[in-house]
Amino acid sequence: MSIACLNGEWQAIEDTRVSVLDRGFMFGDGVYEVIPVYRGRIFGEDEHLSRLNRSLGELHLTAPMSDDAWRALFREAIQRGAEQDAIIYVQVTRGVARTRSHAHPEVEPTVLVTLTAMPDRKTIRPLSVMTKEDIRWGRGDIKVVSLAANGLLRNEAMADGYDDAVLIRDGKVTETTSSNVFVVKDGVIVTPPLSRFLLPGVTREQVITLVKQNCMRCEERDLDKSELYAADEIWISSTTYTIRPIGKVDDQPIGNGQAGPVYQKVYQLFQQKIHAVGSTVSVDGLYK
Ligand code: PDD
Repeated sequence: MSIACLNGEWQAIEDTRVSVLDRGFMFGDGVYEVIPVYRGRIFGEDEHLSRLNRSLGELHLTAPMSDDAWRALFREAIQRGAEQDAIIYVQVTRGVARTRSHAHPEVEPTVLVTLTAMPDRKTIRPLSVMTKEDIRWGRGDIKVVSLAANGLLRNEAMADGYDDAVLIRDGKVTETTSSNVFVVKDGVIVTPPLSRFLLPGVTREQVITLVKQNCMRCEERDLDKSELYAADEIWISSTTYTIRPIGKVDDQPIGNGQAGPVYQKVYQLFQQKIHAVGSTVSVDGLYK
């Protein structure tokens, strides 16, 4: 069951309303997180909370609550929503202003937490991507709610028959419209280094740690657009995808267009990590 908590009030997600003067609605002035729950337990909670706090700080928004208060709220969402595998969505906006003005008002932030069932991931069809210029603003490292450019790029790619766009800035790969990018060449896994132009994906970091723990070579370095076409394998990573293979870039198949052997190994390791998160949430919804 989907459930929402807006400024401390639990309600049905379809009935949840914010003011038209909310800065999130008027200006896209807010930040968000997407956090996975597997078998009733949150995966990567510390990393998501730390990125949330960083995003808030970068927008000069005061954290509306402590990490412990967030943790308690998430557990309550899991208990109320009663979904074993779910997505927790967190959004903090600057709040409801008295009038529309670009200057930041001194108001209470708006805090939204929702819990919805995890999307079905049974089929892992390789995706196709087209390269597109990264037209987004220069702070892709902040998880801001204003995703108009990301949506535009995704939709343009889809109109051309692709699943998504892989974004290129100054000849280098940044990320896709909603995930990080990994390339495999001659057994070496490569992903673009963190910068102001891409999101420090929690899944990206989990994948890097996992492959290094399993003695696979992984480099964080600039990736030229031409390296996409020459890759043995390409994958993307995000909370909603975990890891997905890319079968085609522009009109060029990658490998044989199917999930490659390195992908299959890393995907399996990642699944083991997810399922090692333990037993289902206890009756009172709290676990240590
Ligand atoms: N998107 N890059 C962008 C632009 C993203 O929007 C996301 C996540 C990622 C991957 O980050 P993570 O591994 O922490 O999920 C990279 C989320 C899932 C979304 O907007 O729904």
